[in-house]
Amino acid sequence: MKITVIGAGNVGATAALRIAEKQLAREVVLIDIVEGVPQGKALDMYESGPVALFDTRIYGSNDYSDSANSDIVLITAGLARKPGMSREDLLQKNASIIREVTSQVMKYSQNPILIMVSNPLDVMTFVAHTISKLPPERVIGMAGVLDTARFRSFIAEALDVSMQDINAFVLGGHGDSMVPVVKYTSVAGIPLTELLPREKIDAIVERTRNGGIEIVNHLKTGSAYYAPAASAVEMIEAIVKDRKRIIPCTTLLSGQYGIDQVFCGVPVKLGKNGIEQILEINLSADELDALQQSAKLVDENCQNLKALLA
Ligand code: NAI
Ligand code: 2OP
Repeated sequence: MKITVIGAGNVGATAALRIAEKQLAREVVLIDIVEGVPQGKALDMYESGPVALFDTRIYGSNDYSDSANSDIVLITAGLARKPGMSREDLLQKNASIIREVTSQVMKYSQNPILIMVSNPLDVMTFVAHTISKLPPERVIGMAGVLDTARFRSFIAEALDVSMQDINAFVLGGHGDSMVPVVKYTSVAGIPLTELLPREKIDAIVERTRNGGIEIVNHLKTGSAYYAPAASAVEMIEAIVKDRKRIIPCTTLLSGQYGIDQVFCGVPVKLGKNGIEQILEINLSADELDALQQSAKLVDENCQNLKALLA
């Protein structure tokens, strides 16, 4: 297994180290546009191997030929948000970066699975899919795992119970229009609605929707990266170990949920072939409407990029 991480910034470097520590690959390559940064960070990580107890060969580069024959490529390159910026403010600049990065990756790897992180996430997943021409099941966006992790952690805190026992789904685009699905949220199988009053659940849903900006406002110089990196690595682990996990990921819908040819976050089965199944769960009329509205916003942004991708 060879995994390449593009972007040696906060998310990329943190993810590369987690991949090595979990021994998910024999070889991890960290690539960035800035000379020296991926080399230095990767060497530092590699030197932690004897004490962190991993044998993964990890190295940094500015040259895409070092990514040759990757099984999985995690794409985190691009600008991150600062206070006052929405994910959409990153649209044009990051689309140009993702167009370039994806074509470089595809020069050296024939049939990789691409895991997208760069924002605005759903639109960047569309860009990578368009440029790579890979089958849709091999171009997957990371957002639902992170948004759901935030939702789960806030519920665990409110109930003072283990995070492990919280089951939940946050669907839709990665933005203010995301859709935390309360109906499918349970604590060790007990519906959340039996454990918390409606106002408290509504407050947690709202905090989840604003989870990204809450961290940006604390950090001021960038956005979240520990939970995002952990979430991306959970997806990589599902693929590497062919675990067939049912988790929310951003994928190309072709009619499911009444959404056609738009990338959107929905529950999927994730295994060695990437997205092996898209699950269509019953949503209330309001939830379905919110999901479709969220997809519509993603689609509008994708349409605005058509000229750039032509
Ligand atoms: P960062 O600024 O720490 O790292 C970005 C890295 O990308 C930098 O090292 C930069 O040199 C590199 N880069 C820029 N242009 C490049 C190019 N053309 N080729 C290769 N590398 C290039 O940012 P951070 O915090 O790592 O975030 C990365 C991206 O991920 C941002 O767009 C951010 O908004 C997004 N993000 C998405 C999340 C999600 O849930 N989908 C969660 C967290 C971050
Ligand atoms: C987040 O949700 C910045 O999209 C990133 O933290």
